Amino acid sequence: MIDIQAIRKDFPLLQQKIYNRPVVYFDNAATTQKPQIVINTINEYYQKYNSNIHRGVHFLSEKTTEAYENARQIIKNYINASFQHEVIFTSGTTESINLVAFSFGEKYIKQDDEVIISQLEHHSNIVPWQMMCERKGAKIKVIPATYNGDLDIAALERLFSDKTKIVCVNHVSNSLGIINPIEKIIQISHSHNVPVLIDGAQGIQHQPVDVNKLDCDFYAFSGHKIYGPTGIGVLYGKEKWLNEMPPYKSGGNMIKTVTFEKTIYNDLPFKYEAGTSNFIGAIGLGAAIKYIENIGKQNIFDYEEMLLHYVSEKISKVPGIRIYGTSDNKICVISFLIENIHHFDTGIMLDKMDIAVRTGNHCNQPTMKFYGIEGTVRASLSFYNTIEEIDYFVESLLQVKKIFA
Ligand code: ALA
Repeated sequence: MIDIQAIRKDFPLLQQKIYNRPVVYFDNAATTQKPQIVINTINEYYQKYNSNIHRGVHFLSEKTTEAYENARQIIKNYINASFQHEVIFTSGTTESINLVAFSFGEKYIKQDDEVIISQLEHHSNIVPWQMMCERKGAKIKVIPATYNGDLDIAALERLFSDKTKIVCVNHVSNSLGIINPIEKIIQISHSHNVPVLIDGAQGIQHQPVDVNKLDCDFYAFSGHKIYGPTGIGVLYGKEKWLNEMPPYKSGGNMIKTVTFEKTIYNDLPFKYEAGTSNFIGAIGLGAAIKYIENIGKQNIFDYEEMLLHYVSEKISKVPGIRIYGTSDNKICVISFLIENIHHFDTGIMLDKMDIAVRTGNHCNQPTMKFYGIEGTVRASLSFYNTIEEIDYFVESLLQVKKIFA
């Protein structure tokens, strides 16, 4: 069991009143709030130790380098990677996917090859593959979805051909909150000898992730969605792929030797970390993961599941509400529309009642097109949200309905 009131005190923003009362923050899929320990860690490193990593022999540089590599170790353990050098620091999920789309594409994709993605991807797991396919003359195939938001796994089998080079799907869809059967997708893809990239931006903070057990080839996630700082993220990649692929960015740190004739690239993980990375961000991300481990992953998942059941039950009683993504396999995300009320209007009214939700297409235009709508209101909850907040949220929805009646 977790002590939710004690946990809430760890998050300074949750104590803050926006208009009249402390904010009900239900926009966690966009970004999560930061516990004090993450804020303190970042401040401490800027105030006391700031110095560039891997570049100095002096105390400060050694201190930050050690903390940066320690953060890599924390993440390696958290996702159960085989090696620390399989953890590449990037600026976030978007950069992680762009890295693979570019580097994997350069090495393995030829004219007429095929990449499989799904109907329910975020734009950042569509556009990088489209750009690569345009460059290479390759094409994208799409796993269809069923109306409740599950992927049609039987259809996946039929998409493979001898031209299929990679499958790229999200762990959890950001607009609907549906958990995809990634174990099954990986197993099917590997039976066709095709590697798999998992976009874990909405997955890792809500679901256990063991990359060894999953046997995924790549797993991408962002720091700011897992209670860490913005501008830092991770690409996990199997050593074999990371060794074989060419670098994505070039510059300092990613080299062993440079002459005007030829450059020899650095070993993993530095081969993919050109330039000065967001090293204090990485240290902050390490602190965020330690914080989660202290609460206990399982405690977090169990509590969030309880919130999901509670909010689903309550919201289903609001007349005229329509939920998008009704699969049973969900994280605590409710994407919905209220009959005859535009999603922006609902969002603006909720804001005035101190409730933060996201409205719009959630960077998921193909998903919205699938449902024949322009956007939804999305309430996305985290382990620091409460039953009382859900009650207030549902009462507020009834108020919104009354105002627009
Ligand atoms: N991708 C983030 C979201 O789903 C920003 O809101």
